[in-house]
Amino acid sequence: MTRVAVLKGGRSLERQVSLKSGARVEDALERLGHELFAIDVGGDLVERLQIERPELAFVALHGRDGEDGTVQELLDAMGIPYTGSGVSACIRAADKVLAKHAMRDGGIPTPDFFAFNETAFKELGAARALPAIEQRLRFPIVVKPAGQGSALGIKFARTAADVPSALVAAFSYDRKVLLERHIPGRDLAVSIVEQARLPMTLPIVEAVPNEEDFYDFESRYEIGRTTFVCPAQLPEGVAERASALALEVFALLGCSGFARVDLMLDSEKGELFVLEADTIPGLTETSLLPQAADAAGISFDELVGLMLHAAAAQG
Ligand SMILES: Nc1ncnc2c1ncn2[C@@H]1O[C@H](COP(=O)(O)OP(=O)(O)O)[C@@H](O)[C@H]1O
Ligand SMILES: [Mg+2]
Repeated sequence: MTRVAVLKGGRSLERQVSLKSGARVEDALERLGHELFAIDVGGDLVERLQIERPELAFVALHGRDGEDGTVQELLDAMGIPYTGSGVSACIRAADKVLAKHAMRDGGIPTPDFFAFNETAFKELGAARALPAIEQRLRFPIVVKPAGQGSALGIKFARTAADVPSALVAAFSYDRKVLLERHIPGRDLAVSIVEQARLPMTLPIVEAVPNEEDFYDFESRYEIGRTTFVCPAQLPEGVAERASALALEVFALLGCSGFARVDLMLDSEKGELFVLEADTIPGLTETSLLPQAADAAGISFDELVGLMLHAAAAQG
């Protein structure tokens, strides 16, 4: 039996998802016979941890603070082991621009892109560089904030006229945004869980849109608009290649415990491109990682047990 603090909620835009992930983790920990208490992460986080002195923290936070290394840095400072990736991997994965540079430098295929801070537009006249960027990336162009998840702030620009408003939308989520080449094709997610210190890939989940035309991807995550298929039915060799790429990304970013890597399978040439890695993917009933575990015959309780075990082995 371990005394576990479940960290959930927080101030991020993904607070609601985190509360659901956290509640589900609490139920599993209880069934596994652990002693637990939950913390809705806020101004008293450090104080609560100092008073309650958990042996381990289960970080069920998504987005800002929980996934960008902030909470992990505090837990490191307090000497409390925790589930999932450490500070450096969280920082790299939470920032799509950092992650994409690491992937490009590391020879992992990721869609071509350009990224800018707000100041480039405000102080350096970056807008005048847009035609050159548009020519290189070609339309449609995907515009997204460097941070965030759940497709928040991601827009599709079909023509040059769409770009400025897409940039404004993305800048409302982050001070850094990227313009990325659009990859027409299939949307795949490879989940990874460490078992006995070895990262293992789970069956691939494909997100199949029920409606063809999407102007922005926020709507894609609304219930009923996407069907998730696991294991994805893929041409020969694709699942193996996608899984191998996901493991490379996991190692490249320095992830531990578990993660989910999102990819696109190009419908024309069958090439794979890595979009991003998520260090704390959702753990709700409809989330992809638990679905993938289920397809591998790993129950939710077993999954939580593996995550806890990996954390204890790290600490
Ligand atoms: N370059 C791209 N080409 C095609 N589709 C994309 C591209 N970038 C994002 N998308 C779509 O938007 C979804 C969310 O993008 P992603 O980069 O994974 O951000 P997040 O999941 O953090 O919101 C993807 O799963 C995919 O459906
Ligand atoms: Mg994603």
